[in-house]
Amino acid sequence: MSEPAISIKHLLGLEGVSRQDIQTLLDTGFSFREVLDRPIKKVPTLTGINVVNLFFESSTRTRISFELAEKRLSADVTNFAASASSLNKGEGLKDTIQNIHAMRMDAVVMRHPAPGSTRQLSQFVDAVVINAGDGTHEHPTQGLLDMMSLQERFGHLKGLKIGIIGDIAHSRVALSNIFGLITMGAEIKVCGPGHLIPPYISDLGVSINCDVDEVLEWADAVNVLRIQRERMGEGIIPSVREYRNRFGITNERLSKHRKEIVILHPGPINRGVEIDSDVADGDQAVILDQVLNGVAVRMSVLFHLLGSRLSEGEA
Ligand code: CP
Repeated sequence: MSEPAISIKHLLGLEGVSRQDIQTLLDTGFSFREVLDRPIKKVPTLTGINVVNLFFESSTRTRISFELAEKRLSADVTNFAASASSLNKGEGLKDTIQNIHAMRMDAVVMRHPAPGSTRQLSQFVDAVVINAGDGTHEHPTQGLLDMMSLQERFGHLKGLKIGIIGDIAHSRVALSNIFGLITMGAEIKVCGPGHLIPPYISDLGVSINCDVDEVLEWADAVNVLRIQRERMGEGIIPSVREYRNRFGITNERLSKHRKEIVILHPGPINRGVEIDSDVADGDQAVILDQVLNGVAVRMSVLFHLLGSRLSEGEA
């Protein structure tokens, strides 16, 4: 394993993270992938380091993946469930954070519904802060694991043509993919219902095309986003059937194109809505590779961000 060597102190988003730092995080992620393929998957890298996972919003993949990454690196792990905490008794985020700070944690992994909450947290604590999804803002480790899965499949990111399909307006996954992939030299087209594509998105260097068949014809890979069914009650999406007809990724739709298009999905999947089961479970999909790469790249993030603390401890 190489020495920890990135220029950022926290991972709050992929906006502004340099190409070199992203490449270092991905390269180390591939080294940790090899560790995960060994019979004994644990390394002593973060022995004596305390990490707390603060999840104020529901999560399956990200929460389990961070916990596994921390344990594979031999860190001491504390899990905080918002529903079982004193937040129920009216305590605010700042007090909760200051108490956690007083417990001398080395790193905080936080998911929170408020955009910018992880940046705010990084101003209150000495600990390394890692954003596990802050509202509609960013989900940087998801962006990294998506890039790792693309690099694994294609061998490079520069020049790749990537479609991002779905509810772009509410998606932190879309934003982290856009910031990361543009920095790494990929081209992006976003696609979805017109009212779910924010007008500012083209300022980020991506183009917009609301015709999913045209995007599939152009793309090397597409990242299919979950349609937030809970928003259908708000009238944002007319019906499951209409959405599937216009934007759903089905084998019928894919078979019109004489090339293999790699399919990514961050989960949770709504089978039969944004993607059909036979596509999600088919050879073109890298969805389970994304899950495995997620553990590896989160190990890489923890290793690089906590590296300076380890060397301070040795001094
Ligand atoms: N991809 C993702 O963030 O999934 P979870 O909400 O289950 O963590």
